[in-house]
Amino acid sequence: MEKYTDLLEQIEEIEEDSSDKLRDLKSLDDCEQVRVEYLGRNGKIPNLFQRLGELPDEYRAEAGKKINQLKSSLDERINEKKRELEEEKQKNQLEEESLDVTLPGRRRGVGKLHILTQVQNELVEIFKRMGFSRATGPEVETDYYNFEALNIPELHPARDEWDSLYLDDGVLLRTHTSPVQIRVMEDHRPPVKIICPGKCFRRDTPDATHYPVFFQVELLWIDRELSFANLKYVIKTFVEEFFGPDFEMRFRADYFPFTEPSAEVDIRPPDGDEWLEIMGSGMVDPNVLEAVDYDPEKYQGFALGLGVDRMAMLKYGIDDIRLFYRNDLRFLRQF
Ligand code: DAH
Repeated sequence: MEKYTDLLEQIEEIEEDSSDKLRDLKSLDDCEQVRVEYLGRNGKIPNLFQRLGELPDEYRAEAGKKINQLKSSLDERINEKKRELEEEKQKNQLEEESLDVTLPGRRRGVGKLHILTQVQNELVEIFKRMGFSRATGPEVETDYYNFEALNIPELHPARDEWDSLYLDDGVLLRTHTSPVQIRVMEDHRPPVKIICPGKCFRRDTPDATHYPVFFQVELLWIDRELSFANLKYVIKTFVEEFFGPDFEMRFRADYFPFTEPSAEVDIRPPDGDEWLEIMGSGMVDPNVLEAVDYDPEKYQGFALGLGVDRMAMLKYGIDDIRLFYRNDLRFLRQF
């Protein structure tokens, strides 16, 4: 009898302190610990069962029943607690990992092409529509392509016009895109109908209209029956498309060693009284054709060269070429 009350007391005690413990459980690991403490192989409840043998027969069944009840209720409560903790854990995880899709995004600046690239592309497109294909050539040239083959021999005074940046004996940074004419003609039999946009270099001190690096577009058309009239048509079409329909244009006699006759082209805006120079041009000199083994009796044609920087300045009313190269975004963003 004494042992029985003793056991009942113990059952009660275990019930109470396991309840306290369960209430304070914070993690699934803690749950497992409590399970081991009470229900594990050497846990408090299996110990109770062992003590059943010490009881007199008449109490044994009753006590066994109570221990069993305690065991299953504890088991249930631990499981319940585990479920709770698992749910909570999942909820917290969801909260931590959720995205607030209503937050305003961060804007990334979208870049754009430099104004000179835009203008160059526009120029190329205009000539492409007239059937010219794009050609390219090296920025580092030999004296032969930059001068000799273009009918500018070593001691020719016209060389003074091109202040060159020499790298080595006979090698320089090209001073114009005209050497591409020679390279293309060397590689192809006529007809040849190309434009060549590209970077050029001169030993110039920067000022409002000069910069040591600048861009040109070269044009060359060689075939059997081309005349100055064809040249005029090509330029007129270009002026209309690039500047607008109401610009006047005029040829002004000039001299280039690689063309004969040569002419500068000027334009005048509908509301302006000033003539603006836009390009050099002319019929390709027979000496140039001979340099690439074209028969000048059979073939003739014309060439022109224009400054991309100058075209951009005229079209957009920019009065200083240095602005293109200063990379001030306040300037560049306008275009
Ligand atoms: N290459 C000349 C320069 O840079 C421009 C030029 C003039 C190109 C007349 C031509 C041309 O093709 O026919 O000053």
